[in-house]
Amino acid sequence: MSQIDAATVGKVVSQALEAIGSAADFTALKGIKSTTLGENSEIAKLNALLATVEPSQKAEAGKLVGQARAEISKAYSLRETALATEHAKAQLAAERVDITASPVLRRFGARHPLALLQEQISDVFVGMGWEIAEGPELESEWFNFDALNFDEDHPARAMQDTFFVEPASAHLLLRTHTSPVQVRSLLNRELPVYVLCPGRVFRTDALDATHTPVFHQVEGLAVDKGLTMADLRGTLEHFARIMFGEDAKIRLRPSYFPFTEPSAELDVWHPGAKGGARWVEWGGCGMVNPNVLIAAGVDPEEYSGFAFGMGIERTLMFRNDVRDMHDMVEADIRFSEQFGMVI
Ligand code: PHE
Repeated sequence: MSQIDAATVGKVVSQALEAIGSAADFTALKGIKSTTLGENSEIAKLNALLATVEPSQKAEAGKLVGQARAEISKAYSLRETALATEHAKAQLAAERVDITASPVLRRFGARHPLALLQEQISDVFVGMGWEIAEGPELESEWFNFDALNFDEDHPARAMQDTFFVEPASAHLLLRTHTSPVQVRSLLNRELPVYVLCPGRVFRTDALDATHTPVFHQVEGLAVDKGLTMADLRGTLEHFARIMFGEDAKIRLRPSYFPFTEPSAELDVWHPGAKGGARWVEWGGCGMVNPNVLIAAGVDPEEYSGFAFGMGIERTLMFRNDVRDMHDMVEADIRFSEQFGMVI
């Protein structure tokens, strides 16, 4: 009688299936592969026994063994797939990244509106072929006052307006306006001269809603043959239109500055003013005083010039309706952001 009957084969199959079912993980399953399906397995032994089976029963026995092997093999691969999926899941869980974690928020900086306005103004003049000029903030009294035709006892020289720097004998001060750059530019450059000088200036004012001891001005100077007040007017009108819109215009009121003659206060008609269009005091201007040209070595018989100057803080205040100077000096980014994130 053959040893290959349904009962024997069934037992081999159920033992193998149990071993496969109880393999806890991928590695354990690999470990029992040879004893459930490989050369040393019971099923392999049964297969080897087939050779001894009588020819009449061979087909029957072969079928039993073949089906058994197929069943074990199928169970093995099902378990293999299941464990592989589990393994992948565990790996994914272990490598999980918590994307709900709150990020570190870093605010972008914003350019200061005064710096932006200073650049916009410079662009207007560079667009007309003018050059940008610079001068020192720590200035000599001669450039700030004497060369600009200020009298020895002009009130602006007095201690309450000007930050003098010790020792007094050095005659140094923090420049009270950008006008000393007029003289410096004339000394440094070939004629004709068309320069714009934006920069920081200093006066002994206390910080309040409309004053600050450190502020900015922009100075314009043109010296050429045949320049007249009409050139000054035309230049300022063009500048005003770019700053305040096509409907802007300017008005000159007679005034006095030691370094210009004639001199004028410059008003601008500001069509977009908060609360309605109106005239606003914008700055000072005039034809360069011949004494200034002489101090800078320029012959006033041959050359004439015009100059103007205005405060950048003040311009920003009425142009953009900034009510309080404190906002401009406190460097709060929430103030600067309102003017756009221009780079
Ligand atoms: N420097 C003058 C001021 O600070 C302004 C000004 C500049 C006036 C140029 C006339 C010409 O007030």
